[in-house]
Order: sequence, then structure tokens, then C-alpha cells
Amino acid sequence: MVDGAGGKNDLNELQIQDLKSKVLDLRMKNEVLEKEISQLKREIGQLKHLPLFVAVVVDVLDSGEVYLRQQGNNQEYITTVSDEIRHMLRPGAKVAVNNTLSIVRVIGTVYDSRVRIMELEESPDVSFENVGGLKDEIEEVREAVEYPLTKPETFERIGVEPPKGILLYGAPGTGKTLIAKAVAHNANARFIRMSGSELVHKFIGEGAQLVRELFTLAREHAPSIVFIDEIDAIGSTRSHDGTSGSAEVQRTLMQLLAEMDGFDNRGDVRIMAATNRVDMLDPALLRPGRFDRVIEIPLPDLDTRREILRIHSAKMHMSGDVDLKAVLEQTEGATGADLQAICREAGIMAVRRDAESVTQSDLTEAVHKVMKDSGGMDTRMYL
Ligand SMILES: Nc1ncnc2c1ncn2[C@@H]1O[C@H](COP(=O)(O)OP(=O)(O)OP(=O)(O)O)[C@@H](O)[C@H]1O
Ligand SMILES: [Mg+2]
Repeated sequence: MVDGAGGKNDLNELQIQDLKSKVLDLRMKNEVLEKEISQLKREIGQLKHLPLFVAVVVDVLDSGEVYLRQQGNNQEYITTVSDEIRHMLRPGAKVAVNNTLSIVRVIGTVYDSRVRIMELEESPDVSFENVGGLKDEIEEVREAVEYPLTKPETFERIGVEPPKGILLYGAPGTGKTLIAKAVAHNANARFIRMSGSELVHKFIGEGAQLVRELFTLAREHAPSIVFIDEIDAIGSTRSHDGTSGSAEVQRTLMQLLAEMDGFDNRGDVRIMAATNRVDMLDPALLRPGRFDRVIEIPLPDLDTRREILRIHSAKMHMSGDVDLKAVLEQTEGATGADLQAICREAGIMAVRRDAESVTQSDLTEAVHKVMKDSGGMDTRMYL
């Protein structure tokens, strides 16, 4: 009995010894590898410090190799790259190559100017469940934007052209951008957003070129949805007052109209725009073949406000006494964005009190704060 147990212990002892020596062995191997790594890192560092040549990417081949043209001598060659670098490369991108003609880094791409202003989202992370109310408006947008992408054959069968461009108008914060994103999500399309006012105010002299690039980008990334936010900044009648700034805006608008005219309705790029001021838009934009479907996004009515509150408070912990009815009655004229702000404010107040949950008085206070901040401003002036 005692012997037997002793035998087992011996065995365990042996196994432990064995494992210890294995650990030692692996540690030594590890050390050798670590040395190798730091040696390689040093080499990489040196390679990066040697003078580099500049080349332009002609194409990224299906094989994963990259076809380059060296600037200056126009020599062309094919090289391999790491996955990390390859996904940053597009035809036209500038890269630095070393004397073995390997790409060391990407210097810049022709996309630079586009990236500065255009947001590109792979199928955005917003679905119709995140939109309260607006059922009819959503359906109208889906007919015009989503179905031409997801079931083009139906349009073909019936022999009808989908609308070319869709314009959403309504007060700020009523959910225009939200709907556009949800549609892109549902259509599994890329969402490319450009802000008209940024285009005009930040990129003076580049407007027309950027509009052209916007459409090129959209075609390259099809199926895609182009969303021009604040289109009034480029398409407002008031901005054409004969000054040089307005001439630039005019050129940008002309380019947009030209792009839309040259556009195939049946293609897999859909165009949407949004504005707060539909009354100020240049009628040229609203002509058939341009933004020929205009959809008003209204302020939420009581039922819609209830739904929006439900969406934005879904993850919040509400105390038992909370009754949203009072909130609904006090938020006549509030937008979806206001309601979201009310939920957030009420939550912050509860956090401040270090409470377990949001109470009715948190909500009441939040309503007062938000309704006062949005100035009791009559949002209807935008419609
Ligand atoms: N119907 C709605 N359902 C749920 N949330 C909404 C709704 N409307 C607005 N919101 C909330 O308000 C935020 C702002 O809305 P959104 O950006 O879509 O407004 P907008 O109409 O595009 O405003 P702007 O004219 O200022 O661009 C959204 O991110 C969302 O959280
Ligand atoms: Mg918006």
C-alpha cells in the first residue's frame, strides 16, 4: 500500500522532471526566436531608412501581386506585398519601394481628397428597428432605393424605371440620415455620404472635382447608395448671387446635375439627398431625371414619439414609477434627436445620483432641459 503510493509519487516526480526539462528546452528555443525577431526588426528598420524610390500602383492583380510603375524612368514591374499593405493599395496610389523593389510603405493615394470629405460605410449598422414610426416614408424610400438594388428584375418585368434621385426633407434631427443608413443596411449596399456644406466651405475650388470623384467612388463600390447631406449648400437658389464664391458653388451644382443626367436609373448605384430647406432648392435639381421623388420627413406625432422613446430607452434601466405619458405630452414639436437627447440626459442624471435606475423626475428634468435647449425653437420654420 505504502509502496504503491510511493511508486505513484515517483512517477509524478519523473513526469514533473520531464516537463521541467521540456519547459527549459522551449524557453531556449523561444530565446533564439526572439533574437531572430529583433534582428529582423532591425533589418526592416534599416530598409526603411535607406533612400527609397517612389512608384505608382498601376494595378493590383488577382494573384495578389502588385503591378508598379516607377516614376521618373517609367520602368514597370510586378512585386508581391504583405496583406497588410495590399489592402491599402488602389490603382494610382503612390508607394515607396526599396532597392529590391519591395513596397516598404504607402505614401498616399489618389483617394486622399475623397477620403477627406466622403464617408464610406460598408452596410451601416442601423436597421429599420432603430427607426421609430415613419413607416410610409420608409416604404417610399425602399421602393425608390432598395428594391431597384435588390430586385431589379421586377422593375424590368413591369417595364418601369425607378426614380432617379430621392430627396428627403424635414427639420434637423427628424431621422433623414438615419433612414438613409437603414436602407443601405437593408439593401446590403455601401453607404457613401458627402456633406454639401463641407464641400462648399472646406474644399473651395475642388467642389466639381469632388462631385465627379464621389460618383466614381460610388460606381467602384457598387452596389452603393450615395447620400448628399445638406444639399441646399450646393443647390440653393440664394447662393447664386454672382460672386466668385457663388460661381464655384454653381460649378459644383452643374457637375452634380451632369453626373445625375449621365446616370443609369437601373444601375446599382442609388442617389439620395437630404435638406432642411426644400423651398430654397434650385428647381433644376428637382426636375424629372434628377431628384424626382421628394419625401417629407415630418416631426414625430405622439405615437411615433412613443416608439422613438422606446427605442432610445430600451437599454436603460427605468424605475417602476416611470410613466412615459407625461413625457409624450410635454414633447410636442420635439424631433427624434431631441427625444434621444432626453433619454440620454435622464440617464446621466441618474448616474449623477449614483442611482439604480432612471426615475420620473429624471425624465421630467431632462425634458425641461432639452426642450429649453432646442430653444422651444419652432422647428416648423424649416418646412
Ligand atoms: N424616427 C426616429 N427614430 C429613432 N431615432 C431617431 C428618429 N429620428 C431621429 N432619431 C435620432 O436622432 C438622431 C439624429 O437623426 P438624423 O441624423 O437622422 O437627423 P437628420 O434628419 O438627418 O438631421 P439633419 O437635418 O440635422 O441632418 C439619430 O441618430 C437618432 O438617434
Ligand atoms: Mg442628417
